[in-house]
Amino acid sequence: MRVLVVGGAGYIGSVTVDQLLQSGHTVTVLDSLVSGHREAVNADAELVVADVRGEEALARLMASHSFEAVVYYGGFIQAGESVINPGRYFANNVAGCIALLNAMVAYGVGHFVFSSSAAVYGEPDEVPISEDAPLRPVNPYGEAKLMVERMLPWYEKQGIRYVALRYFNAAGASNLRGEDHRPETHLIPIVLQVAAGQRESMPLFGTDYPTPDGTCIRDYVHVLDLAAAHILALERSEAGSGVYNLGNGIGFSNREVIEAAGRVAGRPIAVREEARRPGDPARLVASSDRAKEVLGWTPGFTDLDAVVESAWRWHQAHPKGYST
Ligand SMILES: NC(=O)c1ccc[n+]([C@@H]2O[C@H](COP(=O)([O-])OP(=O)(O)OC[C@H]3O[C@@H](n4cnc5c(N)ncnc54)[C@H](O)[C@@H]3O)[C@@H](O)[C@H]2O)c1
Repeated sequence: MRVLVVGGAGYIGSVTVDQLLQSGHTVTVLDSLVSGHREAVNADAELVVADVRGEEALARLMASHSFEAVVYYGGFIQAGESVINPGRYFANNVAGCIALLNAMVAYGVGHFVFSSSAAVYGEPDEVPISEDAPLRPVNPYGEAKLMVERMLPWYEKQGIRYVALRYFNAAGASNLRGEDHRPETHLIPIVLQVAAGQRESMPLFGTDYPTPDGTCIRDYVHVLDLAAAHILALERSEAGSGVYNLGNGIGFSNREVIEAAGRVAGRPIAVREEARRPGDPARLVASSDRAKEVLGWTPGFTDLDAVVESAWRWHQAHPKGYST
């Protein structure tokens, strides 16, 4: 397939680009590089540096390429920042998708895979969370994901088959690509920065949650498994449109992640206990049964140490991220 990957210079997108190429697809990456890295884009993919909201540039790209599918990884990703600056999130994460979907309709591109998020659920009533759980985002980041999801069935009537993938916590690295967000807000890369001596200590937000060790529990899904799900979403077109959770179904507490990082790096991690952050649910764990049954997806990384170890290897090889 000829595939356009929007946001393909970012963490998850760059790993997917590698897998798409390995699977024999032809790839063009459209990325503004607002938070992505030119060096993260596989040399066998075409890279077009532009904002997806630039309608003329997008129309030129569509007109000259005859894409068959579009995968969207764009937008901003910090839920906390989105509460303080909602306009930044709606303007990029929602308007960017509208521009893209309109161009797909205009140029007859019939397949769309959307990076959604567990943030569409907010505080769940029960775990594991299924796709039928109530959708009650607690921040503009999650609201923006839900707004796009709600548009998709309307675009389907204009000929676009869609697959929305609600990732839980993306983690880990491939041999070539890893996580380099600035600022970094995700637990595993931050704890590895502490292990590497780049930060003094690891803030632990909340130690009095109703969980066995008092810290929040999250579902970490390996970036290679996420990428594989996108390939399945594109190739299994007989599955039709749909919405799927992607998690590995096992929850690990913040303390367990910090201990795993200590084991993998072979050194203790200094921890700084802090108060709970508002809007952090105690437990977020996915049921991914639908993705397994319908898409035939099987997450390969269920062992926490293996996930952390892959991230540690990449971090050791790129101590300053993509700037080295
Ligand atoms: N990382 C996670 O744990 C996680 C969890 C759930 C959902 N997601 C979603 O997955 C997607 C990818 O996440 P990531 O961690 O790889 O993020 P990332 O920030 O590494 O990648 C996003 C990419 O999109 C590009 N971009 C942003 N706005 C753009 C625009 N207007 N035009 C063109 N390019 C633009 C950035 O330059 C960057 O390369 C995001 O949509 C995110 O919301 C991520």
